[in-house]
Amino acid sequence: MPESKLFTPVTIPARRGAGLTLRNRVVLPPMCQYSIEQQDGVPTDWQLVHLGSRAAGGFGLVIAEATAVVPEGRISNLDVGLWNEQQVQAWKPVTQFIHAQGAAAGVQLAHAGAKGSTYGWLRELEAQGKVGSLSQTDGGWDTVSSSPSDLFDLNPAQQMSVEEIGQSVRDWAAAAVRADEAGFDMIQIHGAHGYLIHQFLSPLSNARSDQYGGSWENRTRYVREIVAAILEVWPEDKVLGIRLSGEDWVQEGWGIDDTVRLAAELYRLGVRTFDISSAGIGPYHGPTGPGYQVPLAAAVKAALPQDAFVTAVGVITEPVQAEHVLVTHQADGVSVGRVALGDPQWANRAAQQLGAKPAIPSQYWRGRW
Ligand code: FNR
Repeated sequence: MPESKLFTPVTIPARRGAGLTLRNRVVLPPMCQYSIEQQDGVPTDWQLVHLGSRAAGGFGLVIAEATAVVPEGRISNLDVGLWNEQQVQAWKPVTQFIHAQGAAAGVQLAHAGAKGSTYGWLRELEAQGKVGSLSQTDGGWDTVSSSPSDLFDLNPAQQMSVEEIGQSVRDWAAAAVRADEAGFDMIQIHGAHGYLIHQFLSPLSNARSDQYGGSWENRTRYVREIVAAILEVWPEDKVLGIRLSGEDWVQEGWGIDDTVRLAAELYRLGVRTFDISSAGIGPYHGPTGPGYQVPLAAAVKAALPQDAFVTAVGVITEPVQAEHVLVTHQADGVSVGRVALGDPQWANRAAQQLGAKPAIPSQYWRGRW
């Protein structure tokens, strides 16, 4: 069997120093866990176990769930955050454990905008009919967006003023400083799935007529400012990444050509990892099925220099399928989400299936499968 590309280590260059070396190209994508104790954004033992067990399961890069840069940027009141020092201290054991297992630790910094102030997606809450916008009595807050929009089936959001946008950019940078202090090796900016950055990018949700709306340049200004502000404070020897929705899957929406153009511009600014997902604004109109978003990653990869690390995501469940995505040069890595919830050792199993050396923890060696 030829050497597995999925399990060939890769080094993502940083602006200075050796860059970030991953032992393989299997990424755990960010997945909200709605697991905190006091609605204070402080991660708990759950995050340690959830992320730690996938690190012990052989993943090369483990990315912590959508982590709010400010309290009002949370999707739900059960989200984690990085807006204060207590959160930094609570993330430290998580990143240390991930590193001790030989994986790299990433964090997805996020602002939900108009998609904030909702109930967490937990079975108990759903059973009580607690879905959609949080009520005031359950701790709901006023949300903000690029412009008011009824696309989200949630309480309406206020349009951000130019001053508020400026403050928001500074908030993203302050959270990046804390992500560094917490020990994360890379940041993935959440620019996808209809959250605040995407609300600026998409013509479906951005009806502004000032310098943050209208033309492609104007709609991309907020994310370009965020990237520039983070790069001012993010250590030069660490890697900055972004997740983008490659398509709104609506003719008049944000499309793959917009994504390719934005990725090239963000690469020029210094972003080096790109995870290409899709949708999030309005009802879903796109394709489904195995690897349905891979062509979007392939389009971005084709437009970027070789040293960018582009990952594909979405119903990539089989090791052979993942390997195929890489050997056909459609992506440099794969994000494996839901299947890894059921199988924390997915990466080690994939290594064995592909004839590569798994990173089975010593503790499990005696009982190796
Ligand atoms: C997600 N997803 C997600 N995406 C994201 O960018 N930030 C997040 O915090 C979350 N949260 C989240 C929670 C849960 C429970 C699931 C199942 C998914 C989307 C996720 O990262 C991934 O893109 C999708 O699950 C598609 O990949 P798979 O699951 O088909 O491999």
